[in-house]
Amino acid sequence: MGLVTFPALIDAHVHLREPGGEHKEEIATGTAAALAGGIVAVLDMPNNTPPVVDGASLAGKERLFRGKARCDYGLFLGAGDEAAPAEARRAAALKLYLTPTFGPLRLQSLGGLLRAFELWPGDRPIAVHAEGLSMAIPIGLAQLTGKPVHICHVARADEIALVRVAKARGAPVSCEVTPHHLFLTRADADRLGPFGVMKPPLGEADDVAALWRNLELVDLVASDHAPHTEGEKRQPNPPPGVPGVETMLSLLLDAVHEGRLTLDRVVELLHDGPQRVYGVVAPESGVEVDLAGRRVVRGTELHSKSGWTPFEGWQLHGVVRRVRLRGRIVFEDGEVLAPPGYGRPLQRAG
Ligand code: NCD
Ligand code: ZN
Ligand code: ZN
Ligand code: ZN
Repeated sequence: MGLVTFPALIDAHVHLREPGGEHKEEIATGTAAALAGGIVAVLDMPNNTPPVVDGASLAGKERLFRGKARCDYGLFLGAGDEAAPAEARRAAALKLYLTPTFGPLRLQSLGGLLRAFELWPGDRPIAVHAEGLSMAIPIGLAQLTGKPVHICHVARADEIALVRVAKARGAPVSCEVTPHHLFLTRADADRLGPFGVMKPPLGEADDVAALWRNLELVDLVASDHAPHTEGEKRQPNPPPGVPGVETMLSLLLDAVHEGRLTLDRVVELLHDGPQRVYGVVAPESGVEVDLAGRRVVRGTELHSKSGWTPFEGWQLHGVVRRVRLRGRIVFEDGEVLAPPGYGRPLQRAG
């Protein structure tokens, strides 16, 4: 029959765009997409407009999530060169942007970087957007300071090789990969045009093979759900990012179907890994999937406001049938049943 029930599955890297980018996504639509995709909790990034870098902006975003989230959530705090990472107790983790990506939030000075490492308490990770050469910086600082560093969206063979060295040395380093970096290559980017533009860019076939070959080094898979409108994507300099929270689980289940992944590994990557890396407790939950069921991915049928997907037309094995979250059926047979405001902040472990 192929019916399987997973525990709470968490997407540890999403951009739900509130405040400031409501035309791309809203908390209510992004968390509906999460539940429809079998995800019951999300960790939301701080590159909003304005960015979430202090107590006031974090409190404002907490208020928005409290009223609008349909699934559970944790919030990142960001740091620019000036802002000191305050309010650490309430944020799931700190996020530092070391190389350019969407939005103005960026850390460029050595002073700011050292200050962030100094002020951030060591019991929660410092998550970083770093690409290529710059990835050696936070990994070096993790080793020097003993503070845990989480490398977001590892995409290249050289990058995963560096993670291997860091872990072998016992550096407090964890990492994630995205579904798009596992299932798409530069050839797909050429085909997709602006809809294949994201940070980090899609890799060559060798990079993708290296990610799969080194999957035992990967702590979690996260979607980096980064919706932009179709109109924005069709403009001359399209913003980087692709939606993904609703397709992540199906893509991994299809890999299970193809024999490239085990169900246990899916649980490690979407349930155990996010809890371990971010020190959060997954809510009581059951995600029922039909492994033999098939689905054709259609952007217009997804719950994200963006209405498109880089996986348009893909036929995947693995359909989410029903999702239970804290005692309530929140998704069943295509219908999202949790209202805005049902979501709760993730509890901290310990
Ligand atoms: C993200 C976004 O749009 O917010 N874009 C992306 O290409 N990944 C930012 C990010 O995660 O780097
Ligand atoms: Zn990033
Ligand atoms: Zn991101
Ligand atoms: Zn298949």
